[in-house]
Amino acid sequence: MRSHYCGELSEKNIGDTVTLTGWTNKWRDHGGVVFIDLRDITGISQIVFSPELDADLHQTAHKIRNEYVLQIEGEVRQRPEGTLNTAIPTGQVEVVVKKLTVLNESIPLPFMVEDETDASESLRYKHRYLDLRRPVIQKNMLIRHKASRAFREYLDAEGFIEIETPVLTRSTPEGARDYLVPSRTNPGHFFALPQSPQIFKQILMVSGLEKYYQIVRCFRDEDLRADRQPEFTQVDLEMSFVQRDDVMAVIEGVIKKVFADAIGVDLTEPFQRLSYHEAMDRYGCDKPDLRFGLELKDASDIIKDCSFKVFLDTVSKGGIVKGFNAKGCAGYSRKELDDLTKDVQGYGAKGLAWMKVKAHIESPIAKFFPEEVLKALVKRFEAEEGDLLVFVADKQDIANDCLSRLRNEMGKRLALIKEGDYKLVWITDFPLFEWNPDEKRYEAMHHPFTSPMEEDFDKFLSEDAVGANGRSPLHELRAQAYDIVLNGYEIGGGSIRIHKKSVQDRMFQLLNISGEEANEKFGFLLEALEYGAPPHGGIALGLDRIVMILANAQSIRDVIAFPKTQKAVCPLSNAPSTVDEKQLKELSIKLDIVE
Ligand code: AMO
Ligand code: AMP
Repeated sequence: MRSHYCGELSEKNIGDTVTLTGWTNKWRDHGGVVFIDLRDITGISQIVFSPELDADLHQTAHKIRNEYVLQIEGEVRQRPEGTLNTAIPTGQVEVVVKKLTVLNESIPLPFMVEDETDASESLRYKHRYLDLRRPVIQKNMLIRHKASRAFREYLDAEGFIEIETPVLTRSTPEGARDYLVPSRTNPGHFFALPQSPQIFKQILMVSGLEKYYQIVRCFRDEDLRADRQPEFTQVDLEMSFVQRDDVMAVIEGVIKKVFADAIGVDLTEPFQRLSYHEAMDRYGCDKPDLRFGLELKDASDIIKDCSFKVFLDTVSKGGIVKGFNAKGCAGYSRKELDDLTKDVQGYGAKGLAWMKVKAHIESPIAKFFPEEVLKALVKRFEAEEGDLLVFVADKQDIANDCLSRLRNEMGKRLALIKEGDYKLVWITDFPLFEWNPDEKRYEAMHHPFTSPMEEDFDKFLSEDAVGANGRSPLHELRAQAYDIVLNGYEIGGGSIRIHKKSVQDRMFQLLNISGEEANEKFGFLLEALEYGAPPHGGIALGLDRIVMILANAQSIRDVIAFPKTQKAVCPLSNAPSTVDEKQLKELSIKLDIVE
């Protein structure tokens, strides 16, 4: 129905007769001449209806409204002097319309189809078909397409086989809440939608398929945030006869191709590596944003010679005093400092202590610190005149969490993040177990199929490891697990797996999961491991998060065609919804809704 796309006309086409199709992006009448910006997926062309050329046509043009669908035929001409639009690629030319067909009309719009919009999210999602017409979102869809294609091309070239795994399945080990689907043919039984294909991909390794991948939807019923959706997409892969570095090499290669193909960025620098402990030490979290410094430092040893009770009490109870140097912030007003304090209190800290580094240290707590202690702090934090030192005294995990969040906040406030900067880092040597204080038991930090580090195997098997409590040697065991972090987002995680049944049994024993329970949940994998399972390992990347960063979007919702809202509903389709009594009966389900 067209000879050209709206976005591709240029001075080269001057004098050509062209046929365009598209949507009426903008309509205006300048002294009797009607101008329309016609939009298709490639961009915009200005089309012109002049009363002198064709009065009837001009009359019809007056009836066109926003988002009417048009087909026009006309001649491309240079725009008159003074009317050039350098903001768009086709801004040198316009099309004088000779023939117009209104292919369809549109009722008045709930919001304008424009990049900048103040329409609420629920309105945008209710009319997502209009929202998706906005060029920014279309651009995001295109980046997503290019990224997926790059993943497929690279993994295909590396010999990976794309294999689909079931969506109607049973609970997987990722530990979020499951989405359940009742079975009609087995009353009282439910499928769980997979939180990941973890068990099936390991079984594919037992089957000898050696290199599996899949771009796969995963389902997790968890609290939503800007980087979390109830259904999201993983680039999931698994390999046999590999060690950690083999998996990492594949991921580094494929991420480089994805960046090059999707946004033309060449990631030349090697990916950094940090151990979990180093990341926690220096950044207070396991997904540090390495685009800026502001590293955390422990000052517990220095402050023991001060008389500030809050610090001394915290350390004597086993806590820490940690902080960082907010470079150049000694000029902060009382209000700014109060705001920072409120921020960290919002994160769970009891307070924020601060010291302005000037000719002298300026701080409400300076009087509790002898001169040598202040000097030692200045040295530890590499502070110069004009800097601001901030401290949190608390239990180690609280201090780390609050400071890492404050660090991210300060990175933004101080504009330390360069646009177009991408910092990738592997976090390695994760703890194997994590103590759950609420349930008073150890949990697998990644998942229970993750192998301990070779070096820690003896400890893993030792008698001391049994009878776990919050302080057992299990704390020290490290896992062959790795995460990949991009600009402060965890974009992937994986591990080398346990491939021996006896080791897997031991793992469940240490997790206090009985043989019966393990069999009930994961028996099909445990049995498969007994039939010659090869050493294997893998990883899953969060495609939505990667595309969000590639597209420079604020939320993964902007890179998902049909996302769910914060409340996990789809305003477009109105899912989830109630169902007929008849359907419930077929499923042998009686509702008893508890408010
Ligand atoms: P994990 O649970 O770490 O590992 O998930 C892998 C990656 O998936 C992304 N992700 C999400 N993205 C959007 N919304 C969510 N709700 C969400 N949850 C996770 C993250 C994360 O890094 N089976 C293991 C992988 C393996 O061991 O191979 C797994 O699923 O980017
Ligand atoms: P106070 O002794 O409560 O008046 O506190 C003096 C200063 O120490 C205030 O700036 C508090 O915000 C700060 N402060 C209090 N508790 C902590 C803490 N746990 N860690 C860091 N600073 C704190």
